[in-house]
Amino acid sequence: MPKPNQTLGEFIIENQADFPGSSGELSRLINSLRLAAKVVNHEVNKAGLVDIIGAYGETNVQGEDQQKLDVYANNKFIQTLTNREIVCGIASEENDDFIQIKGHKGDNQNKYVVLMDPLDGSSNIDVNVSVGTIFSIYQRVTPVGTPVQIEDFLQPGNKQVAAGYIIYGTSTMLVYTTGHGVNGFTLNPALGSWYLSHPDMQFPEDGQIYSINEGNYVHFPQGVKDYIKWCQQEEGNRPYTSRYIGSMVSDIHRNMIKGGIFMYPKSSKASDGKLRLLYECNPMAFLTEQAGGKASDGFKRILDIKPTELHQRVPFFCGSRKMVEKAEEFMAKAE
Ligand code: AHG
Ligand code: MN
Ligand code: MN
Ligand code: MN
Repeated sequence: MPKPNQTLGEFIIENQADFPGSSGELSRLINSLRLAAKVVNHEVNKAGLVDIIGAYGETNVQGEDQQKLDVYANNKFIQTLTNREIVCGIASEENDDFIQIKGHKGDNQNKYVVLMDPLDGSSNIDVNVSVGTIFSIYQRVTPVGTPVQIEDFLQPGNKQVAAGYIIYGTSTMLVYTTGHGVNGFTLNPALGSWYLSHPDMQFPEDGQIYSINEGNYVHFPQGVKDYIKWCQQEEGNRPYTSRYIGSMVSDIHRNMIKGGIFMYPKSSKASDGKLRLLYECNPMAFLTEQAGGKASDGFKRILDIKPTELHQRVPFFCGSRKMVEKAEEFMAKAE
C-alpha cells in the first residue's frame, strides 16, 4: 500500500513482493533508472547556463535532428544501465539498432530488456518547456545465458513488466507502474530523494481537454476532423479546451491529472503518424490503462499490436476512457 511521503527507495523495497520469486533484479533496475534520471534532471535544469542546448549536428534513425540533450540523456541512461549490469539489452529512439549487454563475465545472465525515449519533446528544450524520459521494461523471451536477440524487443506491449516516465517540469517527477497501479514520485532537489506525492494515479473517466497538433488539420483522416469539430461544438460540457505542449509526456501527464485525450493520428503526410510504438506508445499505453484510461490506434488496443520493427510508428489516441471511446466512434463512422 502506498504511504504518503514514502521515499521511492522505501516504496520499491516494500513492493518487491509484487513479484513472487523475484531476485530483486527489477527493483535494482528501477533504482538505476531513478539515479540516471537525477543526473539528467541536473543537466536539463542548467540547460540555459552551459553549452547543452541546441542541435548536436547529427540526424537520428528517425530522420530527426538530434539535440545535444537527446544525446546526453541517451548516453547517461545507457551508461548507468550498462555499468550496473542489470539488463541484457537496450533499445533507444536515438540508436539505429539494439545494444547487447553481455555482462563483464560475458555470460548473459540478466533477464530484462529496456526500451526508451531518453528525451521526449526535445525540440522544447531551447524554450524552457517541460520535457521527459520514457522507459519500458520486458523480460527477455530468448534463453538466459545467450546473447539478447531482436525478438526480445519486438514483444507486444501487453508483455511489459514495468513502464514509466520522468517529467522534467516545474518539479521533476518519476511516474511508473509494475502492473499494480500507477504511482508518482516528486524529486526534492535539495535532498536528492523522490517522495511519493501522487499515490495510485487515476485518469478521470471523462474529461474536457483535447490535445492534438491542430496545425496538421488538413492532413488528418476524416474521423479525426469530425471528432475535433465535435469537441468544439457548444453542447453539454462542450466546447472542450485545447491544450498541446508538444511534449507527449507533459501532455499526457496533465491529462492524467485533469482528464483529457491526447491524439497523434496518421496524416496524409505520415501514414502511421509520428510516435514510436516501442519507446513512446506502449509505455504510455500501459501506464494509461493502469490508471484506468484507454489507449488505441483509433481502432484497436495499442498493447495488443505485435511489433515488426524496432522503430515502428503508430497512430496514438490516449487518455480518459470515455473520450478515447468517443474518438474511436468517429473513426469507425468515417471508415
Ligand atoms: P521526441 O522529442 O522524443 O522525438 O518526441 C517528440 C514527439 C512528442 O513528444 C510530441 O508529442 C510530438 O513529437 C510533437 O510532434 P509535433 O511537433 O509534430 O506536434
Ligand atoms: Mn526525437
Ligand atoms: Mn518522444
Ligand atoms: Mn526523444
